[in-house]
Amino acid sequence: MTGQRAAAPATPYARIGGDAGVRALVERFYDLMDVDPAYAHVRATHGASLDSAREKLHHFLSGWLGGPPLYVEKHGYPRLRARHLPFAIGVVERDEWLACMECALADTGVPDDLAQALMPAFFQTADWMRNRAP
Ligand code: HEM
Repeated sequence: MTGQRAAAPATPYARIGGDAGVRALVERFYDLMDVDPAYAHVRATHGASLDSAREKLHHFLSGWLGGPPLYVEKHGYPRLRARHLPFAIGVVERDEWLACMECALADTGVPDDLAQALMPAFFQTADWMRNRAP
């Protein structure tokens, strides 16, 4: 050995393609949600425009995936559960959100092993957001 250190493992943010990759993922996610009836319930929790949701999810995922913490810089601690309380989120909305994200990950070419590692983490976050039974 010549004193070189092993390279740090790439973050999910880097593997997704940095800011442009996160942006593409979020755009695809909300484009799908907007047009595919399979996501009608989760779409209905949003207002007419998805612009603010697109921007905020992009900023949030940047930090969540190991990149720059844009959401925290702009809005402070996410308090995601509290911020979702105005929207009725049950199992149907949770599962549609997750299915839409799974599709967006595939459509934007996120490597399979990374998508499979991210989905349980998305599940935990989405499940935590449920605020009505069932
Ligand atoms: C479980 C089903 C979910 C539903 C139905 C849902 C719905 C919504 C809605 C309606 C908004 C408001 C959008 C706007 O500003 O117009 C929102 C905001 C947001 N959502 Fe979700 N969401 C879900 C899950 C998630 C998950 C899993 C994440 C993160 C991985 C997430 C991250 C965010 C963020 C960061 C915001 C912006 C919060 C703010 O600053 O007000 N959401 N969501």
